[in-house]
Amino acid sequence: MIQDIKNQFSSGFYWGAGTSAHQVEGGNVNDWSRWEKENAEKLAKKAGKQWNKWYQEKFPEMLNPENYISGRACDHYNRYEEDFDIARKLGHNAHRFSIEWSRIEPEEGKFNQKEIEHYRDVIRALKKRNLEPFVTLWHFTCPIWFTDQGGWLSAKAVFYFSRYVEKVVLALGNDVKFWITLNEPVLYAFQSYFRGIWPPRKISLKKFKKVQRRLISAHKESYSVIKRISPLSSVGIAKNNTYFSKFVRWCPFESILVSILKYQTNEQFLNKIDKYQDFVGLNYYFHREIGLLRHKIKQDKKTDMGWEIYPEGIYYVLKDLKKYKKPVYILENGITDADDSKRAKFIEDHLRWIRKAMDEGIDVKGYFYWSLLDNFEWAFGFWPKFGLVEVDGKTMERKIRCTF
Ligand code: FCB
Repeated sequence: MIQDIKNQFSSGFYWGAGTSAHQVEGGNVNDWSRWEKENAEKLAKKAGKQWNKWYQEKFPEMLNPENYISGRACDHYNRYEEDFDIARKLGHNAHRFSIEWSRIEPEEGKFNQKEIEHYRDVIRALKKRNLEPFVTLWHFTCPIWFTDQGGWLSAKAVFYFSRYVEKVVLALGNDVKFWITLNEPVLYAFQSYFRGIWPPRKISLKKFKKVQRRLISAHKESYSVIKRISPLSSVGIAKNNTYFSKFVRWCPFESILVSILKYQTNEQFLNKIDKYQDFVGLNYYFHREIGLLRHKIKQDKKTDMGWEIYPEGIYYVLKDLKKYKKPVYILENGITDADDSKRAKFIEDHLRWIRKAMDEGIDVKGYFYWSLLDNFEWAFGFWPKFGLVEVDGKTMERKIRCTF
């Protein structure tokens, strides 16, 4: 039972779930919403090739271009009170959400006071329910004007981002203790500038590296801005780390490969911002086996998206964070499970491994399941069901899938 394992954590531990603005709010106009319109047809066709018959029959919506348009999403922009009531009912005492930059600054240098007030109301609604807000300032989406000026490749990117951060923190800082400047910056750079499957889709190794450097500077600069305005707040990023293991334990070639991948994927960014973060925010989803051969993963050990379920991995990535000597918040960990047959066990197993890491000295202070709601899963659209709560795309009706 999830509750039994939860009882093994201290009473001050933060329990919650996460969302991000673009994935749940609805009605956003940003570089992603533009990209969706241009790519929906293509993505639906691609799904027909990428996923085998079993997946296509189980999730026929993947073949429909509409699946790839965020549109109304979960209408969370209007229904946040109802959603926070559900979070409270689930027993949460914290909630992670993101502020949409394109709402706050729809045109360069023009800040929308009404939208700032909206987020003030969101934070109030959380506090009223005793849900501690963990606020992300950038979760992949950018205002169109920013992207059209070169986005994170532009020499002015750090200036623009930290100016937006300053506005938000001056307005809302009194009510927020925990700030997350950037969500998964390394993954973003990889998907947008290396694989080219996310906007602004500019593929080049040079750009991929440059964007990472920019994001490092953007984090450092906004860290300083936040601490100047709100010295008592805690600031970090959400970093997705992967557990890399070897197929052949003794193989020196595989050892070298694992070290390189571990450094580049998990460590480099965190090392560079080490002096500019008060906590390490960890997102954990993946185990990757390295080498010429791989163990075959059984179907019952896979999520609906075919991702391997590997709870033990969270223990190893947590242990690797020890060197930063900072508190750790697990800001994302979750599963796509439309039938709700694996989610509870998934959470339970991960919590057991987290508890073990804590018993061995890792200072974990919170766990946020991804996600509170079934939502718009970026280039996959709506078919993957991550939510603790099911959302009917037509009626917007909410139904609890899993009590955590
Ligand atoms: C992470 C993202 C989050 C969600 C999960 C499944 O990479 O931060 O928005 O898409 O994956």
